[in-house]
Amino acid sequence: NGQVPHDKTLDNTLTLIKEGYPFIKKRVERYQTDLFETRLLGQKVVCMSGEEAAKKFYDRELFKRNGALPKRILKSLFGENAVQTMDGDAHIHRKLLFVSLMTPPHQKRVAELVMDEWQSAAEKWKGMEEVVLFEEAKEVLTRASCKWAGIPLEEDEVKERTEDFFEMVNAFGAFGPTHWKGRMARNKTEEWIKRLIEDVRDGKLDAEKGSAIYEMAFHKKEDGSMLDAHMAGVELINVVRPLIAVCIFIAFSAAALYNYPEYKENLRSGTETYFENFVQEVRRYYPFVPYLGAKVKKEFTWRDYTFEEEMLVLLDIYGTNHDSALWDEPNDFKPERFFTWAGGLFDLIPQGGGEASKGHRCPGEGITIEVMKTSLDFLVNKIDYDVPEQDLSYNLDKMPTWPESGFVMKNVREK
Ligand code: HEM
Repeated sequence: NGQVPHDKTLDNTLTLIKEGYPFIKKRVERYQTDLFETRLLGQKVVCMSGEEAAKKFYDRELFKRNGALPKRILKSLFGENAVQTMDGDAHIHRKLLFVSLMTPPHQKRVAELVMDEWQSAAEKWKGMEEVVLFEEAKEVLTRASCKWAGIPLEEDEVKERTEDFFEMVNAFGAFGPTHWKGRMARNKTEEWIKRLIEDVRDGKLDAEKGSAIYEMAFHKKEDGSMLDAHMAGVELINVVRPLIAVCIFIAFSAAALYNYPEYKENLRSGTETYFENFVQEVRRYYPFVPYLGAKVKKEFTWRDYTFEEEMLVLLDIYGTNHDSALWDEPNDFKPERFFTWAGGLFDLIPQGGGEASKGHRCPGEGITIEVMKTSLDFLVNKIDYDVPEQDLSYNLDKMPTWPESGFVMKNVREK
């Protein structure tokens, strides 16, 4: 098929797991191309990288999502038959529900709740010798997001629910025990949330109109019928779980503040734009989502290569965010690059590309950015802390990844 490079191995699955985030990037650089063909999990797969590839990938005439994700991802990270697997008008209809829950007023509300939780956490830390920011962030985010979504949380279940939400995320690049932990966490969480949806429907649990739990419980499909309680629960988890995952970006933000102290000064005296730029650079620079998958809807040709119907295609998220055609010195952490960024829909793609309301791009970017900004404000302007010797490196062969030590802080004091 055309002049496109083929990776000459029988199956590259193990190599992909071993190499992790840079798997696609390494090969597009080696072959000097933006797409190549390989075999993964026993099937032919096309991997592609860069802005032009992202534009193709988000063309809904050419690609579909149903059937693109392996069962193991659906049974741990996403849930089965949820928004991530939908296509066409049914997808847009479901997607608008998500988008309506993530508007600027919602973003502001979540950020306020997160700051409240950080302040309470700081009280608790007063008697503690050291705290691990990554672990604290998970709990702060679980408390804030459940409160925002209208999910009741008893004090004695906070730790367990926090771990369950996190384990679903942690399972996405794992095989073996970490994967199974994620599956178990999903089963347990789905049962819990399904019961809450039923309670809202039966009037046993009060829910405010406009809250995520209310809107999921009473959402009507395109044909006017309700979602079954389990499916409504799965979609409610799709709102809360990714919010807890922002803990990864918060840990990376703290590491960046420590590694590049000049920006800390900037943020202390600077304007909102400095916060915005710092957060954008954290989302670009640090690894989180490695690649996305879709299936060819109908045969087409691009770059002299024939994409056959049903073929699996992976878009390189990590590599596009580090593509030297798009970013000067892509491997340097430089928030100031965003002063001149034109705001493209297919270049900065840590949470997908295109328009959220018209395709699969993450609807939660606004919330993510506001939560990251408020957490950064907390770290820079609300507390002081010492950073003891620790290992802040992260492995690119572990997906997801975060600073090894979780960012340990000592002697935390309010400002
Ligand atoms: C979809 C990343 C936070 C809700 C996605 C996608 C990515 C992503 C890469 C898939 C895009 C695609 O398939 O084309 C992230 C990252 C986050 C984050 C890295 C930061 C930790 C959030 C938050 C929410 C959220 C805070 C909700 C409050 C969703 C939903 C989808 C999605 C519902 C499915 C959209 C669809 O399939 O149409 N996210 N996300 N995400 N995200 Fe996020």
